[in-house]
Amino acid sequence: MRRKVTVVGAGNVGANCAVWIANKQLADVVLVDVVEGVPQGKGLDLLQAGPVLGSDVLVTGANDYGPTADSDVAIVTAGFPRKPGMSRDDLLLANYEIVRQAAEQVARYSPNCVMIVVSNPLDAMCQTAYWVSKFPKNRVVGMAGILDSARFRTFIAQELKVSVENVTAVVMGGHGDTMVPIVRLSSVSGIPLTELMDQETIDRIVTRTRSGGAEIVKYLKTGSAYYAPSASAVEMAESILNDKKKVLPCAAYLEGEYGIHGLFVGVPVKLGAGGVEKIYEVKLLPEEQRMLTRSAESVRELVGVLEKKRAG
Ligand code: LAC
Repeated sequence: MRRKVTVVGAGNVGANCAVWIANKQLADVVLVDVVEGVPQGKGLDLLQAGPVLGSDVLVTGANDYGPTADSDVAIVTAGFPRKPGMSRDDLLLANYEIVRQAAEQVARYSPNCVMIVVSNPLDAMCQTAYWVSKFPKNRVVGMAGILDSARFRTFIAQELKVSVENVTAVVMGGHGDTMVPIVRLSSVSGIPLTELMDQETIDRIVTRTRSGGAEIVKYLKTGSAYYAPSASAVEMAESILNDKKKVLPCAAYLEGEYGIHGLFVGVPVKLGAGGVEKIYEVKLLPEEQRMLTRSAESVRELVGVLEKKRAG
């Protein structure tokens, strides 16, 4: 049977998820959006790229979830993007409503799928999707760490003039200003970063990584990044669909790992057909753990706001 991916939101992130999926011929794609005509139009356009790309992937668009039924993976990108000067957290209440509705529909039509959440503020939107879908924790996972570490890797590769492929980087924590690049675990083909760069350069790259999203929002003015975010979400979808069991930094529901309870936070996980098949608990230095705890606290603050809203 052909595999199917639902992409909720036919904006820049959603549409580009469809493009990468079609290019890699991973699965058929159903783009869903509330705006009439847009998912249908973008879907048809991408479908017509098939003969040129050599891709037989079927891409369709819809305003309702009927055609998405029984998807293997759903990527939730719907929501407002940031404008210059806004933090991801400023989107909390507006995007809560959007992600709540999306997760409800995804769970109804594709009760066995793995849900990849991309909407911001990422970690709080994962929590929303988890509450609403009532999926087991391994089937709700958030995209942020791959993007944040891809930015870190890009800047390291640029600085050292080496291939991005040789650079591995670990970024943990929430997808926000408190994210935690773990420099100690970052390397170039196994050579520790600290042996290749002085502290000042590392600090500069860490700072640029933390504000990597804001740097792009400042250029674009009317929206936020979408090529790297969509490529990152599709790397997750690919690992799940092909049961590749890649180890990737993703937002996962923690129940005591790293001393964090009942919260989505970015950590290294194994992604396979079962979704999050394993959470890796890396031994952290006290300073790294302190930063991770602080990052989790800022996620908890946002989740607290949503809990109040749900209770009220
Ligand atoms: C970013 C937004 C999409 O980091 O969160 O670019």
